[in-house]
Amino acid sequence: MDVYPPIPTSQSPLKLVLRPTLQRQCLVIGGSRLAAAIVRSVLAANAVVTLVSQRLCKELAVRSARGEVGWLERQFEERDLIEKDLVFVVDEDPTCIVERCRQSRIWVSAVRHPDLGDFSISHEPVSEQDDIPTLSEPSQPQAPSRTPSPAPPRLPGSLTLVGAGPGSPDLLTLKALTALKTADLVVSDRLVSPAITRLVTCPIQFARKVCGRAREAQDEIYKWTLNAVKEGKNVVRLKGGDPFVFGRGGEEVLFFRKCGVECVVVPGISSSLAAPLYAGIPVTHRGVADQVVIATGRKEDGSAPTYPPYHPQRTSVFLMAMGCIDRLSKTLVKDLGYPPECPVAVIEKATCEEQRVVKGTVESIAGLVSGLGITSHATLVVGGVVEALAPEEDEWSDERSSVTVDMDVDDTWSSATVVND
Ligand SMILES: C[S@@+](CC[C@H](N)C(=O)[O-])C[C@H]1O[C@@H](n2cnc3c(N)ncnc32)[C@H](O)[C@@H]1O
Repeated sequence: MDVYPPIPTSQSPLKLVLRPTLQRQCLVIGGSRLAAAIVRSVLAANAVVTLVSQRLCKELAVRSARGEVGWLERQFEERDLIEKDLVFVVDEDPTCIVERCRQSRIWVSAVRHPDLGDFSISHEPVSEQDDIPTLSEPSQPQAPSRTPSPAPPRLPGSLTLVGAGPGSPDLLTLKALTALKTADLVVSDRLVSPAITRLVTCPIQFARKVCGRAREAQDEIYKWTLNAVKEGKNVVRLKGGDPFVFGRGGEEVLFFRKCGVECVVVPGISSSLAAPLYAGIPVTHRGVADQVVIATGRKEDGSAPTYPPYHPQRTSVFLMAMGCIDRLSKTLVKDLGYPPECPVAVIEKATCEEQRVVKGTVESIAGLVSGLGITSHATLVVGGVVEALAPEEDEWSDERSSVTVDMDVDDTWSSATVVND
């Protein structure tokens, strides 16, 4: 006998509860009183709200001035969907926007046309008459008697911090590519590969980072970026690899936040992981390494940081290590317990056409690097994983020789040809 209740034939809505523990990113398209009612409900669920609208009602203008919501003073554009979890279309035609949201798998509510959207939420009723944008001059909101802390004024443009990956354009994320294609200005780090900067169609400015003048160059980047955002431009700040892995991405987020600009950050594939992979080195490998440490070879002032001590199951990946590889390798052996014969690889310009790989030991690597003239833009990998996928050695070859590997980077490491020096 059937003991389960029958499923009703009429399609009843599925009721979900949005937990306030995660700060959902919500886009509200509209500035009317109805949009304000939606914003109130969404803020109550601890969501982060961005409004996109050319006009705001008084309540939303005040909330924007207080910094409770972000405001893009224009019509909706597709890039507004980047990083969003939920979208509410209130005051624009929802047809196309709903379609775009579905393509990006973002839940969308068409507030005035509930049948078009994916979900609806309960909010306080708003009368027809109230539902009219009442303020087109949001710069003079009626300030509440007590404002919490004076938030910096929001600037009209937008800023996206984009990770460009290690070099090959094939390794850009779709999100990064969309951001590049829709930007009004790209401010790029100098080391981002030309193959990637060639994809940019808008004006591009390059950081002039040269040794010893990093501070001035960084100030210049900030100035260019802020000026453009103030002019209402959508700026992409393009960085090599992943912006948050030795990329100063976090510092830039904090700086721009102080100036009233909240960055959207788009991750990139970090050279710390891609370079070993393109050299046929798995950074973890069962029975060989169960941990990876990513470290820098030198601090900003050139001095040595605290390097990871030797552990037989650890892979140590060093960025920015070429200028100090002699000191670094000696320190690893002398002070940190690395066996002199511990396998090491250096991957230069990983994933780019000019990629070179040199393998050796902690003891031999500095000499090999100097012999090949590798001076920067290379990643150092130390640990047993360097040999984990290496072909078996010939039985008559009794010592580990240094090898360079010429890669067909299009086929990644699987088609590497090994050339003994
Ligand atoms: C300032 S750090 C930036 C790291 C970047 N954020 C990332 O996640 O890849 C620069 C260092 O990254 C490494 N690097 C960047 N691109 C590389 C590439 N294509 N091949 C090898 N190493 C690379 C080098 O060690 C270089 O000195």
